[in-house]
Amino acid sequence: MIMLQRSDFPSSFVFGAATSAYQIEGHGFGGAGPTHWDVFAAAPGKVVNGENGAVACDHYHRFAADLDLLRGFDGYRFSTSWARILPEGRGQINAEGLDFYDRLVDAILARGLLPFQTLYHWELPAAMAARGGWTNRDVTGWFGDFAETISRRIGDRVHAVATINEPWCIAYLSHFLGQHAPGLRDLPATARAMHYVLLAHAEAMDRLRAMGQKNLGIVLNFDAVQIADDIPENAVSTELYDAILNRWFIQALTCGTYPDEALAGFAPHLPQGWQDDMERISQPLDWLGVNYYTRQIIAADARAPWPHFKCVSGPLPKSQMGWEIYPEGLHKILRWLDADYCRGLPLYVTENGIACDDQLQNGKINDTQRNAYIDQHLNAVLRAIQDGVNVAGYFYWSLLDNFEWAQGYEKRFGLIHVDFDTQKRTPKASYFALKDAFANG
Ligand code: FCB
Repeated sequence: MIMLQRSDFPSSFVFGAATSAYQIEGHGFGGAGPTHWDVFAAAPGKVVNGENGAVACDHYHRFAADLDLLRGFDGYRFSTSWARILPEGRGQINAEGLDFYDRLVDAILARGLLPFQTLYHWELPAAMAARGGWTNRDVTGWFGDFAETISRRIGDRVHAVATINEPWCIAYLSHFLGQHAPGLRDLPATARAMHYVLLAHAEAMDRLRAMGQKNLGIVLNFDAVQIADDIPENAVSTELYDAILNRWFIQALTCGTYPDEALAGFAPHLPQGWQDDMERISQPLDWLGVNYYTRQIIAADARAPWPHFKCVSGPLPKSQMGWEIYPEGLHKILRWLDADYCRGLPLYVTENGIACDDQLQNGKINDTQRNAYIDQHLNAVLRAIQDGVNVAGYFYWSLLDNFEWAQGYEKRFGLIHVDFDTQKRTPKASYFALKDAFANG
């Protein structure tokens, strides 16, 4: 059961669901170019079962029916694939790709939904990756060109634009931990990506603002962070973990500086003159997207290379991903962001959700764990609003079960179950509960 109701929230609050292009569209359709996720997935052992996004949810052909399921909600967060529009990353435009997003935005509007666009949700064109991708300063100009190209076509109809989804995942998870494309484990590459991803954001902000595009933001991921045992080594590690994951990007974006603890490791590898970029990086945002799922428990690990820490398993119940369920963390993060960095800036929870081992039984899925997760996290959002934080909306991740990156299709986050053999959609109990509580009509 979801106990909360729409009337518990401010009348302008936006309820919706989120997806991303590569995870649902079917990247093999419509003339899209190869991405670094296709390259990564083709390498042995990188993605569960060697799966990729070639077909995914076939949303490319089924978007109209998929969007029908969101009727009555307020907003839809989606992303526009760079490689679908510019198959080589720059140069030749794939007209079919632009047409697709044109139809998609019209379809979103026709269902009374506000279109929340994300420009980059991870599918870097393979041609760009071959030129060094996020570790090459030129990526900023390539990204700026892409931002202009897509915005010229759909910018007149989108409600909000986020430049980048989750810079930490793009830079750290993908270049240092090697878990996402391009799968590097390389400190100098990571440091450059940690900076260029922000500079690319700034470039897109400049270009879109010059075009008159309004309501521009960025989406960051945050985890609650907690010390394992209260000993001094762990305290240092916990602060450092927090600096890299939670503070690096928001501090750069709002204060124009990087946290000292993290700089100690990254500074030797940052591009020369990086300080000169910080003013552009910290230009004003119109809103901030907050993605929140779980908490991390941190201990020192003297045998590991810098940053000498590790995440340890926590005591709370976990999702299918093995992530602890910790709704209080969302309340804390929203309050902390508002108090320390954002000061009244509209915050949208752009992702929050849970993967469950959903089972179809007699054509139904009774995902009570997901209902409880949503209810608890919406309560956390409501408490933040009552505390005076300007939280303007909540998007459940995700509308559909989809390609969960390195986890392939096994991990199911959707409100709607997808049978990946037949593409049959089955709304889960949580979908009906969310609709009953928050949809209009
Ligand atoms: C976030 C991603 C999203 C999805 C969820 C589970 O990090 O933005 O694409 O994979 O996690």
